[in-house]
Amino acid sequence: GLVRASVLGAAGLTVYDPGYTNTASATSTITYIDGGRGILRYRGYPIEQLAARSHFLEAAYLLSYGELPTAAQGAAFSSRVAAAAGAGLPANVLAVVAALPRGVHPMSALVTGLAALGGVHAETNPALAGPHVYDTPAAQDVQLFRVLAAMPLLAAAIYRHARGRPPVSPRPYDPAIHGTAGGAGAAGGGRPFSYTGLFLDLLERRSEGSPSAVAHPVVVRALDTLLLLHADHELNCSTATVRQLASSGVDATTAVAGAAAALYGPLHGGATEAVLGMLGRLAAAGGVAAIPDFLATVKRGEVKLMGFGHRVYRQYDPRATLVRRLAYEVFEAVAAGSDGSDSGGGGGSGGGGGAGLVAIAVALEKAALADDYFASRRLYPNVDFYTGVIYQALGLDAGMYTVLFAIGRSAGWMAHWREFLADPEARIARPRQWYVGAPERAYVDVHARG
Ligand code: ACO
Repeated sequence: GLVRASVLGAAGLTVYDPGYTNTASATSTITYIDGGRGILRYRGYPIEQLAARSHFLEAAYLLSYGELPTAAQGAAFSSRVAAAAGAGLPANVLAVVAALPRGVHPMSALVTGLAALGGVHAETNPALAGPHVYDTPAAQDVQLFRVLAAMPLLAAAIYRHARGRPPVSPRPYDPAIHGTAGGAGAAGGGRPFSYTGLFLDLLERRSEGSPSAVAHPVVVRALDTLLLLHADHELNCSTATVRQLASSGVDATTAVAGAAAALYGPLHGGATEAVLGMLGRLAAAGGVAAIPDFLATVKRGEVKLMGFGHRVYRQYDPRATLVRRLAYEVFEAVAAGSDGSDSGGGGGSGGGGGAGLVAIAVALEKAALADDYFASRRLYPNVDFYTGVIYQALGLDAGMYTVLFAIGRSAGWMAHWREFLADPEARIARPRQWYVGAPERAYVDVHARG
């Protein structure tokens, strides 16, 4: 209700629109959202079909290039990601991560590591490279594969650092980890490569020479689907940040560091971690019985119901429906197979706690949806409401949840970076302001001030 407009000289019509609620800053062909009807599509494909039948790397291809890959294109794409991942991270970047305190928040470490990664590549000195260095598809691909490969490597290095464990090198091909994904990442007729399998091995392998950490196929598939579900969501805060940064001509890796910083905040990606904190506090306060008192504090405006509400959706977030289903699948697999896996984090610990928390989450959702406060404001669960309980069931540290979000969203960030560069109407992003400060006044010497 705060939109105001005025004509400011040469700039034409200036609209005051805090939070950009009504401002479109780009045309885009990547993701379609109908928030009123709860619809989400990548490049026209419904998210439900992609979640059921596609996988993260294929979605990354689709988002960047606009079409689903043929088998050969998919294989070539996976091979390039695998090759970039196989090269590992530069030693300087690993040293930057290792230099951080062990208790640093993983998202802070991710932002730092990505910024360092941007800096260690010669072509990423934007001042020297000039504004058009990324104009060719080949130059854009170098950045795309660098970012897609770096995300799981960096995330795993950060996770291990927090536990006092050195990073392990990626295994270029291991049928044990790459063959378990139930189709996730299968590279057409070529060698299968599972992005998520690789990531889980990097997280949980005991040490460099140890056998690969092999997670339950349901767990691999669930994590892969979560990455896919988080891959893009048009001009959310972090993706808008990528476009803002791209508009200055900076390289994609540095732009992605900025996007990760935006994602870190509790109102954006940090909500996943915040939801789990909220559910944990409810569990400690008596579980389902504590929900009415908790909702009363939300309604008094003292706290927010984390994982609820969305700027665009005034309906059920379609991703939340899919994630809730995934949560049940993972709990079943974890409960049935907790001793059938080599991997501590990838299939074992925390299952009981997670199952308890999901029961609280389901009851909390039900109570909120039946309450007029939430109904009248059209507040529904968003993607983050159930995501955290899955990660918790897999034994991942809470600080890692947003890092996992970032891995998935990096596919969308890179697609938007590419789209921005190809847009003939794109200009440096420079919003106007509405000045409400003091009128001109004369400087007062310090001895004469009140
Ligand atoms: N709990 C309680 N009340 C809420 C919530 C919530 N989670 N979300 C919105 N409201 C209330 C607001 O207080 C406001 O009430 P009012 O009209 O009485 O003032 C009304 O609903 C409208 O909400 P806005 O603040 O205008 O919604 P906005 O679009 O600015 O914010 C946001 C969206 C940031 C997602 C908000 O709903 C929120 O903070 N949710 C909790 C955090 C969260 O889950 N974030 C994840 C978002 S999804 C993602 O990043 C992947």
